[in-house]
Amino acid sequence: MPDTDTAPRGDTRDQVIKGHKYDGIQEYDNPMPGWWLWLLWATVIFSVIYIFGIHVFDFVDTYEDDLAQGQAELEARRAAFAETQPTFDADEATLATFVGDAARIEAGAANYATSCMPCHGAAGEGLIGPNLTDNYWIHGNTNVDMFNIISKGVIEKGMAPWEAVYTPEQRAELVAFIQSIQGTNPPNAKAPEGDLVE
Ligand code: HEC
Repeated sequence: MPDTDTAPRGDTRDQVIKGHKYDGIQEYDNPMPGWWLWLLWATVIFSVIYIFGIHVFDFVDTYEDDLAQGQAELEARRAAFAETQPTFDADEATLATFVGDAARIEAGAANYATSCMPCHGAAGEGLIGPNLTDNYWIHGNTNVDMFNIISKGVIEKGMAPWEAVYTPEQRAELVAFIQSIQGTNPPNAKAPEGDLVE
């Protein structure tokens, strides 16, 4: 009985045995299937085109080319984005131009009523958050101090950061509003918190 597992598939009578014979082992002359040969030639031809494309005619991009192109595109996008983002220096001098400006204070008051009133009270008298009208400050009362607290918040104490919600100008307007209500002694004022700042 021939071993059917190792016998060649198909009609073995049609198959030509090649001349070689080593240690009693013989080989049939089976051509590779057509699809397989086509695939082989396709990869061979592709590799030649590819090598010439990269090294001679330069129509195939190398990894470095792609990287450089990507980085140039990234830089261009960053530059375009930066142009749409006006720079804002939140220093004392800039913030001081907001303080006392009636239009800025009004704009700040509107955002205060939306976002800050629930914790600091309608008139800044304090509720969950500290009184913003007295001389006592936990984090200081300069324009920059206030701007920073409004921007970064004090999350562990329940003061949210607002930099993702309000633009720098809007935060400066909030500072202008808070400065405008200093010393107003609103009713139901919350007890002082923080240090006395003259
Ligand atoms: C969820 C409640 C909550 C909201 C909303 C909130 N705050 Fe506060 N805020 C606090 C708390 C609590 C503190 C005290 C933080 C601490 O103890 O360090 C605080 C502190 C501050 C301080 C510093 C006060 C100090 O004594 O130094 C300022 C300024 C301030 N908030 C402004 C704002 C503004 C402006 C908004 C609106 C954009 C706002 N807060 C919205 C709870 C809130």
